[in-house]
Amino acid sequence: MKVIVLNTSPRKAWNTAKLLKSAAEGAKSTGAEVEYIDLYDLHFTGCRGCMLCKRKNVERCHCYWKDDLSPIIDKIFSADTLLIGTCIYLGRPTSGYFALIERLHFCSLSYDDYSNYFKGKINVGFFVSMNATQTFYDQLYKDQFEAYAKELEMFNGKVCLYPCYDTLQVSDYAKFSMGSFDERKKKAAHEEHFPKDLENAFRIGQALS
Ligand SMILES: Cc1cc2nc3c(=O)[nH]c(=O)nc-3n(C[C@H](O)[C@H](O)[C@H](O)COP(=O)(O)O)c2cc1C
Repeated sequence: MKVIVLNTSPRKAWNTAKLLKSAAEGAKSTGAEVEYIDLYDLHFTGCRGCMLCKRKNVERCHCYWKDDLSPIIDKIFSADTLLIGTCIYLGRPTSGYFALIERLHFCSLSYDDYSNYFKGKINVGFFVSMNATQTFYDQLYKDQFEAYAKELEMFNGKVCLYPCYDTLQVSDYAKFSMGSFDERKKKAAHEEHFPKDLENAFRIGQALS
């Protein structure tokens, strides 16, 4: 089993990365071959509309634009499992996440009949970390992120959305103008919930691999 783990948060060692590293350990525990990628290490943009993926008689589910992302797209389409994580930026996934999805989705979309060229099956774990509490998420973000999770059904496998709430954004709030956050409450929530989030991420990585 091949597992691609993709961190679409720009921060390489914080909440989203920690969840994904735990999910990767879960995948490894099943004997899967796991590759971990930080999206923000790569040079890429969203779809450039070159239309080469829509030419007649070309390989499908392949992005022809020559940059760092195209080989990753190939790896994703040939994986058995994708463990992908984003943080919430202004109510949405990161711009890097959107650029990736735009490229993945377009090169697997048929302009003959709008069907999906991708006929394989990839299970997806979709990890979303945020400042918001669960109550705030349920009221404001849930429907939208369930729709983003639904988009990942293009891979024809199981999709498991895992929201991780109330994360620590900095290690010392006293150094920042972030008066709307109560550091004591944030740290208490983090200590209570984050270890469970990591365990759950491990189990999801294991189950989907
Ligand atoms: C530019 C920016 C925008 C953000 N917008 C939101 C937001 O709309 N809602 C939210 O709950 N958290 C928001 N956050 C907080 C992050 O989603 C949260 O701290 C997340 O866990 C960060 O993930 P990371 O530690 O992997 O970078 C924002 C953070 C940044 C830097």
